[in-house]
Amino acid sequence: MSVKIENTPSPSVLMNSMRSIGYTFKTALADIIDNSISAKAKNVYINVPINDSELFISVLDDGNGMTRNELFNAMKYGSDREYGLSDLGRFGLGLKSASLSQCRLLTVLSKNENVISGFQWDLDLVIKDKKWDCIELDEMEIAEIPTVDALMELPMGTLVVWQNFDIAYKKSNGRIREYLSDEMADAEKHLRLVFHRFLSNRFKPLKIYVNNDLLEPLDPFLEDHPKTDSKKVSEITFDGETIKVQPFILPHMTDLSDKDIDKLGGIDALRNDQGFYIYRNDRLIIYGKWFRLSSANVSAELLKYGRIKVDIPNSLDEIWDIDIKKQNATIPRQILNYLKKAVSDVCSRSKEKTTKRVRLTLERDDNKIWNKSLDKNQKERFFVNKESEFIRHFLDEFDDNNKRKILNFIDTISATLPLDDIYNAVCNKNNATNIEEEQFEAIVLEGVSQFRMIKNIIQKSDEEVMSLLTRYEPFNDEAIADKIRRIVINENA
Ligand SMILES: Nc1ncnc2c1ncn2[C@@H]1O[C@H](COP(=O)(O)OP(=O)(O)OP(=O)(O)O)[C@@H](O)[C@H]1O
Ligand SMILES: [Mg+2]
Repeated sequence: MSVKIENTPSPSVLMNSMRSIGYTFKTALADIIDNSISAKAKNVYINVPINDSELFISVLDDGNGMTRNELFNAMKYGSDREYGLSDLGRFGLGLKSASLSQCRLLTVLSKNENVISGFQWDLDLVIKDKKWDCIELDEMEIAEIPTVDALMELPMGTLVVWQNFDIAYKKSNGRIREYLSDEMADAEKHLRLVFHRFLSNRFKPLKIYVNNDLLEPLDPFLEDHPKTDSKKVSEITFDGETIKVQPFILPHMTDLSDKDIDKLGGIDALRNDQGFYIYRNDRLIIYGKWFRLSSANVSAELLKYGRIKVDIPNSLDEIWDIDIKKQNATIPRQILNYLKKAVSDVCSRSKEKTTKRVRLTLERDDNKIWNKSLDKNQKERFFVNKESEFIRHFLDEFDDNNKRKILNFIDTISATLPLDDIYNAVCNKNNATNIEEEQFEAIVLEGVSQFRMIKNIIQKSDEEVMSLLTRYEPFNDEAIADKIRRIVINENA
């Protein structure tokens, strides 16, 4: 007959392994602040060291605080409690695993009903004794904890203190204070972004201070800017729960002031962080990703200026596999399909907008690489059409970051067309119109690659794919099409 034998985990091994689940300084800090928000804190005070003699990071909040027994439970790896609808917690691990990913000594003090209780995890002690021994601090020891005075002044609240920074020590050759201050500068941006909705809440704003400086929210959609194009909110019902989706097209760079760019998180963020912004209970989880939607789904306009806000309630946690760090999640296929549709709706609407404008002037043609339109002064302007079939299929080979770089590159090339030289050459009949041998080879190679890409996506016969490919420039040239056909047919024979 089978028997049950309790097989308890080894504390030293488990605690040490949990340090390596992939937290960074900023994601660890955000996890601590999640707890403050769940405890209904209005203010969070972060302290980072300003001199080498006191190396600690502390996070104090004026939330609900915990009694001794609640704090003891909170310190347990896998603390259990019921989670509410607006809760940011989920695993019962964040406080411990986030903190000890950055340091070896974690102290948590909490004040409730006018009593301050205190517990500590000391990684070295756990490794030495090989026991889940959590240290309870007495009154004298509590009074020695850095920044405890500020907790004493509050009616309720919790203070988390990190000390003994082994990883920072190794990474910085002993310059821990400088290291922590650099990490904090980076973390500030992260906190301003992931908690921006809490920080800018008009009715009950959360205030986060770093060494007394108040953090301003970073709004990734610049919703207050008059030139931000906010699209309609659409709602998706999934498993009886509602997911909200709202696309935004950011103003063009030339319409942004330095302050706007700062509000977005700087020039790099403006250039690189397009994509979905996924919120779980108002807390930003993932941002700046298109989840491998192809360029056929995402127009060039969206790739360069588009951000899509997605709100998912925590009741759907199970289906999108949120990880312990609340830093990654996989979007299930069904939801991805809805999101794809939301994106293509925006694309077709923004296309309508441009086509209308173009029709007044000159027709846009997606089968052609070079297009013509009128500029502000009613002068003809030639440009590489980033929505052309050629460019869209070409971009599919690249990741989002490279796609954006290529789009910027194309804009630059477009803007530097030497029209006067071309005009002179044409007038003097001194120009060549045929394709050179070298160019011919390059175009054929690109055609073969686009053939494979399209075939992969649409899974149709070679002939059907060929007929799609040869509809647009530069593959609509008979000699080029012929060469591509010969190569791919041979290849697939
Ligand atoms: N600042 C705080 N104020 C009040 N209670 C807190 C605070 N920080 C933690 N707690 C309590 O400690 C518990 C454990 O926190 P921990 O972050 O380890 O897990 P969690 O928040 O429940 O889940 P997750 O692992 O997803 O963060 C919380 O559920 C909460 O009850
Ligand atoms: Mg937590």
